[in-house]
Amino acid sequence: MTARVLSAADPAAIGEAAAVLRAGGLVAFGTETVYGLGANALDPTAVAKVFAAKGRPRFDPLIVHLPDRNGTPSLADVTAEVSPAAAALAERFWPGPLTLVLPKANGIPDLVTAGLPSVAVRVPASVAARALIQAAGVPIAAPSANRFGGISPTTAAHVADGLGDAVDLILDAGPCPVGIESTVVAFEPNAGGGLWPVVLRSGAATAEALEELIGEAIEVRTGNADPGAAQVSPGSLSRHYAPRTPLALVDHPGEIDQPRECGLLTFLPPRDAGRFASCETLSATGSLTEAAAGFYAALRRLDERCLPRLAAVRFPNEGLGTALNDRLKRAATADAGATASAER
Ligand code: TXA
Ligand code: MG
Repeated sequence: MTARVLSAADPAAIGEAAAVLRAGGLVAFGTETVYGLGANALDPTAVAKVFAAKGRPRFDPLIVHLPDRNGTPSLADVTAEVSPAAAALAERFWPGPLTLVLPKANGIPDLVTAGLPSVAVRVPASVAARALIQAAGVPIAAPSANRFGGISPTTAAHVADGLGDAVDLILDAGPCPVGIESTVVAFEPNAGGGLWPVVLRSGAATAEALEELIGEAIEVRTGNADPGAAQVSPGSLSRHYAPRTPLALVDHPGEIDQPRECGLLTFLPPRDAGRFASCETLSATGSLTEAAAGFYAALRRLDERCLPRLAAVRFPNEGLGTALNDRLKRAATADAGATASAER
């Protein structure tokens, strides 16, 4: 059986999806980054269904989504404290692809935060997503709407392919315009007794944009975590966002042996695309914004060709290229045989 899909452009569909959420069901919905698999964050039984549907380990906490910083529910409803540093980032980047890790309010179930004293919060930019959360009237816990470790979904069809009827309803808001996940930022005490932002996951809010606001270089700590170990950012497993086909990374398509057997994912048009079994070019004009928007869908199309091998050309390490390279690195990591492979 496949999941029911309704258009987010239909106000009645938003109302219906909100009712499903309030009743403890699961609704996959489009955001500007990727599709989320939503549940009422205040209902542990509903949240447990999210972990089950994704095959996600319970040590990996979820992001709680709000309709607005000061809406209903508000940031004050889900957090215990918002530091000036966090408030400044929220002010500048919300609604948008930035997730802030803050001390959690008592009412947030431990299942949402994997037992951590902090909660990750975001106000999405997507109008449909905010309308849904607003109509539900509760904070919505939502990881990306894919099986754990696999390629993130950027269309309703991707969600239906991956999760099928494990989700009660899919709210189709069209292809995600940004195309890669939010940047996750936590805060640490600094020498001056204040709190300082640290990037735990590179994402659609670029380090350059964050640095412009804070006026200093921001620390990026997205290193590969050991699955199961005590982790600062429990979701930063080395293998993630991964196709089934083995994926190698190169700096230039010329490095690839036996291109006839290989599917190529490349930012810029290669000199001789016809040499490859299949080629996905992400931007003819060299736009990282365009490349990010098409990234996961292109990786998926290559994976569906069932070729012996895939190769991807690394992106320039700037702007959105940093987050795209992070995704490539995790997608290409040889299967360590640990938790992240168990979902396949
Ligand atoms: O763009 C996005 O962020 C999408 C859309 C649906 O909003 N959501 C998303 O969720 O990517 P997910 O579950 O795939 O990734 C959440 C990330 C994980 O790396 C998780 O470990 C981290 O956020 N995270 C969540 N709560 C945390 C916490 N309390 N402390 C540190 N990291 C946390
Ligand atoms: Mg994810």
